[in-house]
Amino acid sequence: MNGRAGDLDQIRALAERHPSPGCEVLICPPATLVARAAALDGSVAIGGQDCHWNDEGAHTGDISAPMLADAGATHVIVGHSERRGDWGESDDIVRRKAEAAWRAGLVAIVCVGETLSEREAANTLDIINGQLAASIPDQATGRNLIVAYEPVWAIGTGKVPTADQIGEVHDLIRTRLERRFGEGVGRSVRLLYGGSVKPANAAEIFAVSNVDGALVGGASLKADEFSGIIDALEG
Ligand code: PGA
Repeated sequence: MNGRAGDLDQIRALAERHPSPGCEVLICPPATLVARAAALDGSVAIGGQDCHWNDEGAHTGDISAPMLADAGATHVIVGHSERRGDWGESDDIVRRKAEAAWRAGLVAIVCVGETLSEREAANTLDIINGQLAASIPDQATGRNLIVAYEPVWAIGTGKVPTADQIGEVHDLIRTRLERRFGEGVGRSVRLLYGGSVKPANAAEIFAVSNVDGALVGGASLKADEFSGIIDALEG
């Protein structure tokens, strides 16, 4: 729930600063800005932050994947921990949302992540395994799926897991995807780390095995800051 019309200037500035980036740059603005953001010139792809699991119908206030595609989005985030937490979205709902995204031709960015109490109880890997199994539909490919590992306790808190902790989970996600979808598909799905990524810590995070990019919250709101993260990924 960040971003109004004036903030489109930040996307403009970002596109101007990275006319041909050495990585994919995606901004997922609030639904009110998707169409205007997608109409801007430049190198920045635009996605939604959530979608309904149905394609259309009487669901007042919701946004469907076809509506996002119609507005110019190419991606949609599903299962962000704030959706899971604020709205009680289950893995089953998240999977159905990813399926809706695919029906509309969008890339689904499926988020998984443990809470602090789950980590402290040494349940992290079980939680991630369960979320992966139940939130990702069977038809996943490297082109229609991106997985974001976002420890809930690291989102917006300034707390970042150690490189070893991130690597442990990303290696697990890679192995699980390879086992379930075959090596080729499992290897080609991009894995993002999310949770308090900033320009100052981005290079260290990108150096971790099986981290292909980042899902950035607070530091994505200003072009200057987000630009530093893009620079770190371009390395
Ligand atoms: P943060 O948010 O980068 O501010 O921690 C991440 C997120 O919202 O997914």
